[in-house]
Amino acid sequence: MKNLSLKLGLLFFLILFGLETFTFFFLHSTLVESRVEEELIALQTRGNSHRAILERHFENDTISHVALMESEANTDVVITNINKDILGSSVKSSIIQEYIDRPNPSVPREGQTIGDNWRDEDYISTVSPIEQKGQLIGYVYMFQDTAWIQSLISRLNEQFLLAGFIAVIFTITIIIFLSKALAKPLIKMKEATSQISKGDFSVSLPKTGDDELGDLAQSIQLLANDLSYLKEERSEFLSSISHELRTPLTYIKGYADIVQKRNLTAEERNQYLTIILEETNRLSDMVKNLFDLAKIDKNSFDIHKTPIDLHDFMRKIEAKFTPAFMDKKMILEVNCPEAIQLNADASRLEQIIFNLLDNSIKYSSPDGKTAITVSRHNKNIIIRIKDNGKGIPEHELPYIFNRFYRVDKSRTRALGGTGLGLAIVKELIHAHGGTITVKSKENIGTEFDMVFKGDDG
Ligand SMILES: Nc1ncnc2c1ncn2[C@@H]1O[C@H](COP(=O)(O)OP(=O)(O)O)[C@@H](O)[C@H]1O
Ligand SMILES: [Mg+2]
Repeated sequence: MKNLSLKLGLLFFLILFGLETFTFFFLHSTLVESRVEEELIALQTRGNSHRAILERHFENDTISHVALMESEANTDVVITNINKDILGSSVKSSIIQEYIDRPNPSVPREGQTIGDNWRDEDYISTVSPIEQKGQLIGYVYMFQDTAWIQSLISRLNEQFLLAGFIAVIFTITIIIFLSKALAKPLIKMKEATSQISKGDFSVSLPKTGDDELGDLAQSIQLLANDLSYLKEERSEFLSSISHELRTPLTYIKGYADIVQKRNLTAEERNQYLTIILEETNRLSDMVKNLFDLAKIDKNSFDIHKTPIDLHDFMRKIEAKFTPAFMDKKMILEVNCPEAIQLNADASRLEQIIFNLLDNSIKYSSPDGKTAITVSRHNKNIIIRIKDNGKGIPEHELPYIFNRFYRVDKSRTRALGGTGLGLAIVKELIHAHGGTITVKSKENIGTEFDMVFKGDDG
């Protein structure tokens, strides 16, 4: 893992170091060039001011005076006549002869450079023409020892080297911090994911900000939370299943024992066998429901949507369920406008409505009334199932769609409920892309609203 920060660091370093080196070279050469340029200009200006004096008095006295003045300065002067014969000089070295001999056919009035090769030669040099009445009479040569420039540059080099060294140290420090800071959250995330893959979902990744790294950390955290929730839910579900299966099995075993071992009257025998049959039915219902839920969970649940004419559909539902309502002296009322179509899986839709009507029958007193109302709202189709039964306490409402959840365990058991009906309803509706909401008041009634998107393909 350390590799990442090393790689990042190295990359940063190469880029920054390259940039720094380039900048330093550029700065250095510009500085040196302009320094030499300045020297040359100063030299030329000095030569021009000597020339001004010499033009007024081109005499031996003045010439030796000028030469004497220069021998005190760190520059040197050579004054020649028009044939480049030396009339006066502040230099002893014979090297200067070579500069003087360089051809300079037409020197401009403001003078010109005759040697600027400070790197390889001993002098940089300029020349200014001396004129009287428009006639060229001689030259003033100015010389500047390059040793002086060389030492200036070597001092400059030293400073640059020091600055460069400091810059590199600084860069490295920043890079170490930066690459660590970048790599650290990644390393944390990698650790978190391997922890998750080992089945430990108790990871906590700190919020690092709202950049991509922060987003990634948040996604991983979300994943861990979801997985942990799923795991918890699964074990809860499993323990509920075993609990729910145990009750009917206990009944069946108990009554089967009695029937087998005791001498019972035909009537008693019949009564116990009925209980055994009821419990067996409940078990097979539960297993069928669980199987449905498992298929939904696995997403291997096929929804075959076809356009359903709801008016026809509801009339069939009414015909099918009215006997069950009449058994309990209840009324089923169906209101559905004509020509209303819904894209849905007909048998699943029937299952949904069956589960809801089944509840209405179970949780209403005789003479109760249940109404199915279909309506259209914008592009949505709303199916409402409303009863005036015993209702659901408000604090129970958030849980009724949970698996195995029953408001009154003992009483609903007597009614044959498993607590899976609404869980299946919810999953089926979601599989259709719809939603279901519930409103209920105790002793007044319950109302389920299903909203399906109409006109979808
Ligand atoms: N129409 C209703 N009136 C009153 N209570 C209801 C109604 N529908 C559902 N409930 C409550 O919600 C619980 C969960 O319903 P459901 O999932 O269908 O399970 P059950 O197998 O008990 O019918 C029921 O036990 C019941 O307490
Ligand atoms: Mg039910």
